[in-house]
Amino acid sequence: MKQTALEMQKKVNSMIANAKQVVASDSYRLHYHLMPPVGLLNDPNGFIYYKGKYHIFYQWNPFQTSHGAKFWGHYISDDLVHWKEAPFALAPDSWFDKDGCYSGSAIVHNDKMYLFYTGNVKDDEGNRESYQCLAVSKDGLTFEKKGPVIQVPTGYTAHFRDPKVFYQDNLWYMVLGAQTEAEQGEVVLFASSDLVSWKFRGTLSGSNQNGLGNFGYMWECPDLLKVNGKDILLVCPQGIQPRGFDFQNIFQSGYFAGKVDLEKAAFEHGDFIELDRGFDFYAPQTTVDEYGRQLLFGWMGNAEEEDVVQPTVQYEWIHALTIPRELEWKDGVLLQHPVRELKKLRENEVGYKDVLLDSQAKTFQHVSGSVSELIIEITEMNAENFSVQLGNSTIILFDQSNQVLTLEREKFNGKELEQRHYSLDKLHSLHVFRDASSLELFVNDGEAVFSARIFDQGHEIVFNVDGRVTLNVHKWDLQRTTTY
Ligand code: FRU
Repeated sequence: MKQTALEMQKKVNSMIANAKQVVASDSYRLHYHLMPPVGLLNDPNGFIYYKGKYHIFYQWNPFQTSHGAKFWGHYISDDLVHWKEAPFALAPDSWFDKDGCYSGSAIVHNDKMYLFYTGNVKDDEGNRESYQCLAVSKDGLTFEKKGPVIQVPTGYTAHFRDPKVFYQDNLWYMVLGAQTEAEQGEVVLFASSDLVSWKFRGTLSGSNQNGLGNFGYMWECPDLLKVNGKDILLVCPQGIQPRGFDFQNIFQSGYFAGKVDLEKAAFEHGDFIELDRGFDFYAPQTTVDEYGRQLLFGWMGNAEEEDVVQPTVQYEWIHALTIPRELEWKDGVLLQHPVRELKKLRENEVGYKDVLLDSQAKTFQHVSGSVSELIIEITEMNAENFSVQLGNSTIILFDQSNQVLTLEREKFNGKELEQRHYSLDKLHSLHVFRDASSLELFVNDGEAVFSARIFDQGHEIVFNVDGRVTLNVHKWDLQRTTTY
């Protein structure tokens, strides 16, 4: 039965109110990451700087800790670090989005915020329809739905979604994730002069194109951006088998760097590089802010079957966004840095300089804590293995002889350990953000990042080396910003 917007709002508010206590009693609730007030969060959506504030929306099922008919939850911030919860922006209450207001993006035009999203519709037999929809806001708080602006073109299945819109050379462009009728994943391009009437321009890249070989049955959540002059296409291919250390998660999230020709809908690019080497990362989205920074949020989760045993489920919530990152293209590598505003959260600084560890396990006084930031600079290493153990079961291990960095954590079932690996020439620095149930590790100034949910609140941090290593160690506690 169809519900009015007001009824929907009441239902969601009472859901939040009823769950508030149980959610807040979870010691795994994060201190400075964005989470759903209740229910399930997945992709970041509509990331935008609008009238002096940052807005981030997210895929949200307020009623369950499983996927379903998604809303767009909404947070607003002055500084990317302190966020206020706003009323949800979109609810699945129209014929064209009744089974979910799926992922999409935001742009600003004539002082208004325009949201583009995918209306997901399923009939009684479970057949899917997809509509690319528009909603407009004058204040960044209430959104008026304008309905579908794009139908699925011929040659594609209804797996056609996740519009990301941007402005270039006097035209609006949209990239979309798509699946051809031959079940090949693609990113397609549309263009518009008025944001309402859109023309299909062609395919930018896809499985079995641009020398890629078989590269997935569906590509989700594309984003096309320029980072220091380089064209970068972020995309999330599904259906790729693991290869060596790569593609270990169920669905992949990465980028192609190259040269795009929007006029011809062509993109010459290199290999697909994973954006994150950890366990829990997917569907990232970027925006440019008033300082011209390319900022990125990711979903600190993925569509893993094991999610159902995450301990937060008992507390009626699941998943979070990553911390915001700033992108930089340097010497052919896409670097990711934690945004500088996060420094505001630092307190209780502890520092140790030029410490020599010689075949020993060592702890440093006050270098501990499960809500903290840790920077380790390795100035000299003459050893085969150097490791940092965080809490009871998480280990960052650098195997110098094989030039492999490993992150090991306990599986969500709490019974076994699992690993992710990254090959690197030399280890210079480890920059770790721990929150009550998460870890984000930035390696060598953002050359690689590992994101992971970690359900272990052990406080100790133990360094271990089987030879000699010289280190600088810095650690801060991080203040709580989440109030819900
Ligand atoms: C990616 C995704 C998107 C879709 C959304 C639905 O995680 O599957 O393709 O729009 O989630 O919640």
